[in-house]
This record gives sequence, structure tokens and C-alpha cells, in this order.
Amino acid sequence: MESEGIVYLNGRFVARGEARIDPEDRGFLFGDGVYEVLRVRASQPLFVDRHHARLTRSAGQCEIAQPFDRAGLEALARELVARNGISDGIVYLQITRGVASRAHVFPPPGTAPTVYAFARATVEDPELWARGVSAILLPDERWGRVDMKTVNLLPNVLAAEKARRAGAYEAILVREGVVTEGSHCNAWIVRQGVALTHPTGPHILAGVTRDTVLRAAARVGVTVEERPFTAEELLGADEVFLTGTTTGVLGVVQVDGTTVGDGRPGPVTRALDGGYRALVEEEVARARAAVAS
Ligand code: PDD
Repeated sequence: MESEGIVYLNGRFVARGEARIDPEDRGFLFGDGVYEVLRVRASQPLFVDRHHARLTRSAGQCEIAQPFDRAGLEALARELVARNGISDGIVYLQITRGVASRAHVFPPPGTAPTVYAFARATVEDPELWARGVSAILLPDERWGRVDMKTVNLLPNVLAAEKARRAGAYEAILVREGVVTEGSHCNAWIVRQGVALTHPTGPHILAGVTRDTVLRAAARVGVTVEERPFTAEELLGADEVFLTGTTTGVLGVVQVDGTTVGDGRPGPVTRALDGGYRALVEEEVARARAAVAS
């Protein structure tokens, strides 16, 4: 485990090795917390508005006090990026219901939430995007409110590990025959030139990247339908791809050992990947200009 780097814990920037969380933190005991992952590109935290809105919603639905306004979240992300010299990477932020003697019911009013955040560099292997990845289908064993971005990720962890052991990049989850999303990203298919993705609602996370790809689609002239599609439709699709903060737009070329299309990321996936990358660069420029002004 890395012991370097400066992290943020409850109002202070400290060396990661110095950060201490009480074992009776409800995040540790109950998974009672929410989180966000923001992409950092050219040292700019991206799509802060959307991440802040989703964080506020997740926290609100869980009745966890969320201490950041939009500017506060951006300032924290920038400080972590600067202190750690990050160019490309992520900022992770987690807020739990705080420390209290273990009981399922909420702790006494006034219990301070625990806020932990870090920035980390990521290195992309361009081959993944050029060649595409493989995936497996697994039952979606998560609860019925995965639209809240909570740290209750055990089913996601188990699914991701099953995918890894199968030599696959991702597990694509299926609920009552319908494809919901991946263990850590949203899932899409392309049929006859139309891109399909599960509508937002309680059974998927409304991905910030998903949203950006919807905007990219309008620009590059790809028709999108937000409608549920089945595992069967996925297995017979012309293209399959994944979207997420740490995934970008990533073609899936094999599912459960079956080749998708011609075994390479297809034209719609590539067009959306290009459109998404262009929006990312525009967001970098916009974020830079906002800081300069
Ligand atoms: N995962 N669906 C799930 C279950 C996710 O965990 C994520 C993100 C997404 C994509 O959302 P976004 O485009 O906002 O990143 C969809 C993050 C990156 C994670 O847990 O590491």
C-alpha cells in the first residue's frame, strides 16, 4: 500500500500514512457512506457541477450531512491535485455518517460526518481502447437503490473479482433478464446504428460519463435510446461498450467468450469515444479559463 501522498481527512491535509479513522466509523462498520470519483485531466478536476449534484443527491437520500457546496468541492479537488502534483488521474471523496457507538439507528444529532479524500495519478494503456476488452455477464445481486452512490459495494467487488478471475475487464450485470450496468461503469449496446443504454432510475448509477456521452452522441450524430435491453440483445448486438470516469468510452469485443461484431471496437463506439474525448478537452479548457478569470 502506498504510504505517500497528501490526503484530506476531516478538514486537514495530512500524509496518507498519518491519516487515522476511528474503527467505530459507520463507514467501516456499516458501509454507511457515500462517495464520488472525479476525473482529473491536465490537472483540472472535470465535470465538478455534475459530481457535486450527484453527491448532494446521494447524501440527501441517505440523510448524511454533505458539507461541500460546489465551490468547496472544486477547491478541495484542486488542492489535492496541486499538493500531489497530479496531471491525469482521479479525485476520490467519501463522506460517512461519522463515528458513534455501534447501533443500526442513526447516531445522535450533531455527530460529524467523516470526510476523506485523495487524488491519485492513473496511467491509461491506450491498447485497451484500440483493441477493446472482454466482459462476462453475471446476475445483478445489488440492492434496489444503486442510483445512490454509496460505499456499499460488496456485490460490485465480488462481481469485479469474478470478472478478473475469468480474465475479463468487467462484469456486466443482469437483473431479471435486463442488463443494468457494469460493476464500476455503465453498459451500452449498439443495434442497427442506434446506441442503447438503461434509463436512469433506481437500478443504475446515473453516470457522469454516461451523461457526457449522451451529449457527445447528439454532436456526432449518433441516435441514442435510453431503454432497457436484455442480455440476449447484448449477446446479439453489433457493438457493446462501457462508460465511466475511470473507463472513458471503452469497446467490449467479447462477452462470455462470444465475439461481438468483428471483434474490434465498432464505428459507433469509436465515434462516441472521439466525441467524448473532445468534450473532455473542452471541459479542461473551460476549467482552466474559469480559474484564470
Ligand atoms: N464508478 N456504474 C457504477 C456501478 C459505477 O460504480 C460507476 C462509477 C459508473 C459510472 O459513473 P461515472 O461515469 O460517473 O464515473 C456506473 C467509479 C468510477 C468507481 O466506483 O470507481
